[in-house]
Amino acid sequence: MRTRTRTQVGIVGAGPAGLLLSHLLALRGIDSVLIELRSREYCEARQRAGVLEDGSVALLRDAGVAGRLDQQGLEHGGIYLQFSGERHHINFRDLTGGRSVTVYAQTEVVKDLIARRLADGGPGAIEFCVTDIEVTDLDTNQPALRYTDASGSRQEITCDAIAGCDGFHGICRRAIPPSALTTWERDYPYAWLGILADVPPSTDELIYAHHADGFALHSLRSPTVSRLYLQVDTGEDIAAWPDDRIWAELSRRFELPGWTLDQGPVLDKGITPMRSFVSAPMRYGRLFLAGDAAHIVPPTGAKGLNLALADVAVLAPALDGLLHSDDKLAAAYSARCLERVWRSTHFSWWMTTMLHRTPGADAMASQLQLSQLRYVVSSRAAATSLAENYTGFALH
Ligand code: FAD
Ligand code: PHB
Repeated sequence: MRTRTRTQVGIVGAGPAGLLLSHLLALRGIDSVLIELRSREYCEARQRAGVLEDGSVALLRDAGVAGRLDQQGLEHGGIYLQFSGERHHINFRDLTGGRSVTVYAQTEVVKDLIARRLADGGPGAIEFCVTDIEVTDLDTNQPALRYTDASGSRQEITCDAIAGCDGFHGICRRAIPPSALTTWERDYPYAWLGILADVPPSTDELIYAHHADGFALHSLRSPTVSRLYLQVDTGEDIAAWPDDRIWAELSRRFELPGWTLDQGPVLDKGITPMRSFVSAPMRYGRLFLAGDAAHIVPPTGAKGLNLALADVAVLAPALDGLLHSDDKLAAAYSARCLERVWRSTHFSWWMTTMLHRTPGADAMASQLQLSQLRYVVSSRAAATSLAENYTGFALH
């Protein structure tokens, strides 16, 4: 048996993009239904990004969902770049006229947004644990969402528009005829092994380390919890990485006279592949893609989460216009987002290729990487370019 209902905007995926979009639409008085494959607990625990640009913080603050972020977020005015046995500070505030970033985990952004949507919209505002999701009639004015809800009933929701916020592996992008999309993709020949550790960070700001054995990153989640990453080979099995092997490798890659990496219990660990991917346009008929559903970047530039939030900041007013018979912003949505997407795609590729060891690369390639790193830490112009991209560009 199938139940039929209606909403203005059907949203697929309760990641940062889908959750913020449904909140921004609610602030505009627009009704939405948000459906999610996973459970609330799973969405709130999934370890991912940790760095918010100033523009993302301002967006969350303006949307009235930054209460905890303002209390617990850690403002960082720079990063360290380490290579050839030396650690150099890149001072964002000095280089960019005061800009900074805020360390606040994606898990916390997701918890804040879920709590707010359920408080404002009631328990039906987000449907978790749905299955067999389909998006149909995308090239009509009444696209539909079909799915099986958590109790096993088949549902059909007729919408004015659908937002595909279901990440890289979701179904929305694949619902668009391939002939209507152009895609660009680059896989990198390495992956990141990430750990969450119950130990105070050994650094006041993030350390991006280039090492002959591979890249390492020291990030953090709070004054008592650290987040660290190691470059590993693609296809590496996490079982081959017991905790002491991870700590030994991290200690070697961050090694510096007079500095030690404090160790603690590992709370979570996993391996993430690295990929750049862009698909365009980000609209097909009444289906709008946002966030990882349309594009992904390798995490070295800390851009994925910020891009997802920036997309929906553009999408919410565009959908508002569309629902009031004004297609102008909706028509411009894809091009406006893609400008930022390509800037972040380039920056993330640049950071990634500058900092990682490329398996099989020759001695010349290594010297070119080192020359680039020396240039970034010794030229104010080069350091400013990194700082400007890392802290991000104003949302417009
Ligand atoms: P997502 O967060 O992927 O949300 C999509 C949601 O859709 C998910 O909840 C998913 O369960 C749901 N979904 C999927 N398919 C369906 C379906 N068929 N129906 C309904 N729901 C569906 N970025 C950084 O800046 N730094 C990092 O360290 C970093 N680490 C990452 C690690 C991993 C493993 C991954 C995958 C990404 C990482 N990123 C990182 C990128 C960043 O986390 C993403 O860019 C960000 O999550 C994008 O948000 P989103 O809302 O677009 O997509
Ligand atoms: C993180 O804290 O998870 C993080 C920080 C910076 C990055 C990537 C990930 O570039």
